[in-house]
Amino acid sequence: MKYLTSVWFIVCTIGPAPVYSLQVKDPKCRYRVHLPEASWHTAYDACTGSDWTLAKISSLTEMYLIDLVLQEVNGLFDDPVVSDSTGVWVDAFLRSSNNESMSQDCKSLDPQLPVTVTRTGPGDMLCIYYNRTAQTFLTDDCNTKKTFICESRSEALQDCMTVSTITNLKNGSPFDICLDVDIPSGTTDCKSRCIETPVCYTFTGDCYLFRYKNTCITGLGRSPPATLTHKSFFIHNAADYPVSNAKPLSEWCPELTPEVMQEKIDNIQRNLTVNRKETNQYIRTLTSAPDERRSARNIGIVGVSVICGVFGVIILSDCTGVIKAIQSKCGAAKDR
Ligand SMILES: *[C@@H]1O[C@H](CO)[C@@H](O)[C@H](O)[C@H]1NC(C)=O
Ligand SMILES: *[C@@H]1O[C@H](CO)[C@@H](O)[C@H](O)[C@H]1NC(C)=O
Ligand SMILES: *[C@@H]1O[C@H](CO)[C@@H](O)[C@H](O)[C@H]1NC(C)=O
Repeated sequence: MKYLTSVWFIVCTIGPAPVYSLQVKDPKCRYRVHLPEASWHTAYDACTGSDWTLAKISSLTEMYLIDLVLQEVNGLFDDPVVSDSTGVWVDAFLRSSNNESMSQDCKSLDPQLPVTVTRTGPGDMLCIYYNRTAQTFLTDDCNTKKTFICESRSEALQDCMTVSTITNLKNGSPFDICLDVDIPSGTTDCKSRCIETPVCYTFTGDCYLFRYKNTCITGLGRSPPATLTHKSFFIHNAADYPVSNAKPLSEWCPELTPEVMQEKIDNIQRNLTVNRKETNQYIRTLTSAPDERRSARNIGIVGVSVICGVFGVIILSDCTGVIKAIQSKCGAAKDR
């Protein structure tokens, strides 16, 4: 009873743990949402680095995770225009000729994923984006500019804070990094404070927290530090990303034309045609296979006996002659 009381005391004083709060290293921090908006191909190239790729959507779990990341990113803004108005490019596109949706490695998407073909576009390829409001994947012309989301290729948890200089992160129209909260004196772990506070993007050494806003209230006398430690899952690049040329679908995933089919068949044939001397058939011509049947063994025994008998008779009949010859030789020697 005493034990129960203390449990209740702890629950009542501390309160139920928040349903979800960001950890210092968190599954969501394997993702990075990028601005400014870019075409799908530009986004693809902007993400692709040794450790990063455009976010994969191989399962519903990944869709929910991406959704949570976008929710977290929207929390940084006073006006959640970042991802809801245009959608967010992910690693998927659609072959317009047959509405087949696939990832960059041409694997068909999980049929459980909600993909809706919402427009027909130029060329053979439509690109797929995530619409948070509708919680579905929709298609659009790949040249449309959208926010995009990259993902770390490493499964390991990533630090939710990273360091940039303010000049690399856009600080000005349409968004400013503005003072939002001043934490009471005596607080020392400003980084944890920022991670725990959904609106906090970055902080100063004395625990003033900053967030994105359309316009800062001027006259507060504080600006973000020139080198910021900030939440890693949102990057607002100061400059536009270098524009990449659109690559047609046929260069990502060749269509199964008769020529492509023939090449695949040739390849398989080449792989199946192995050295004739390594085949079992060839090896069997050189060795005899064991035959474990009783009848086979009996026939063998009879054969061997017959052969031995014939030779035995010949040898034995010779033997008597030989013995006689020896005996007569020996007798002659004695007589001398
Ligand atoms: C996203 O979905 C909502 C609700 O269905 C819709 O009103 C909005 O136009 C969609 N936005 C885009 C960019 O598809
Ligand atoms: C692809 O889907 C769209 C929208 O649902 C539809 O209008 C179009 O006919 C489909 N195309 C094919 C080849 O199935
Ligand atoms: C043939 O073998 C090569 C090398 O072992 C492999 O890379 C290729 O994918 C194979 N092709 C087919 C069609 O199995």
